[in-house]
Amino acid sequence: MGRYGFGLGHVPFRQAISDWMAMRFGQRFDPISEIVPLIGSKEGIAHIAFAYLGRGDVAIVPEPAYQAYVGGTLLSDATPYIYPLRPRTSFLVELGEIPRETLDRTRVLYLNYPNNPTAAIAPRDYLERVVRVCRERDILLVYDNAYSELAFDGYVPPSIFEIDGARDVAIEFHSLSKTYNMTGWRCGWAVARPEIASALLKVKSFVDTGQFMAIQAAGVAALESWAEFVPKNVAIFQERRDAAVASFHAAGFECEVPRATMYLWVKLPDGIPSAVFTERLLEEQGVVVMSGSSFGAGGEGFFRISFIQPPARIAEAAQRAGKLLSSMAGVGVT
Ligand SMILES: Cc1ncc(COP(=O)(O)O)c(C=O)c1O
Repeated sequence: MGRYGFGLGHVPFRQAISDWMAMRFGQRFDPISEIVPLIGSKEGIAHIAFAYLGRGDVAIVPEPAYQAYVGGTLLSDATPYIYPLRPRTSFLVELGEIPRETLDRTRVLYLNYPNNPTAAIAPRDYLERVVRVCRERDILLVYDNAYSELAFDGYVPPSIFEIDGARDVAIEFHSLSKTYNMTGWRCGWAVARPEIASALLKVKSFVDTGQFMAIQAAGVAALESWAEFVPKNVAIFQERRDAAVASFHAAGFECEVPRATMYLWVKLPDGIPSAVFTERLLEEQGVVVMSGSSFGAGGEGFFRISFIQPPARIAEAAQRAGKLLSSMAGVGVT
């Protein structure tokens, strides 16, 4: 296990990923030519830009979003087209609203559903529309599926590859981080047809030499434990979600009930900047949340809660946030 893993890595990990993709989504991928083991999905999401983007190209980047999309785009010298995710479109990127001249220059579209930080999910007919446009325009669809296993109330998030034609245009990213509480282990993978997978592998061949193979072996164990471990873990997150929704509603906040992810995207009253609210919440009440604007300007007007504490602690945080809300509401804040 201690030698270089290189791009190939620990072959049983590739096999376990292939078996899991088939079991979970009914999609078969060749373990060697269609799967890329990653040192956490973040590095792959950032590195794929180097294979597809250069000066003059456009990438469509949702905002608020995980910052690796805009980061990869900018490091590749390409131009991000920022699309604000707002309640108006149910937090979906509507390609029909993007100017034609921009679409003509677009080579990459980043999508992430179930979504961090808004907790939105994507209906199948929406994904079908997106895949159709990407195929018509030869746009690479970078589909970040980090939260595919963290879903509630019977909702089962799909793989983009369950959509007809997606194999032509998509690369999908998966992570062990949230599903198995393995954030620090740095282990994930990408899956795509061989031409797309090998483009990512080639970029990576210049920048890393593979994850420690013992960690990839742990990845095999994690994937093999899916049926036993994941439902119990999701049940814990569901309790926290229920507590978060109930207690933040009771404290006077507006939020939807998330059907997936470990986040609650909470609305602030107009006129309260999210950075001001979150800073005061930390300093005056000792509660840490993320301001919407820290995910990009498109996230203004909201803040994000993570379900990383037990229900009682979340309820306590909600109460304290409610106190701050009452003291700020109606008072002009600048
Ligand atoms: C949407 C999204 N994508 C990707 C990642 C990265 O996960 P990893 O730990 O596999 O790099 C995260 C982690 O927070 C995330 O929220």
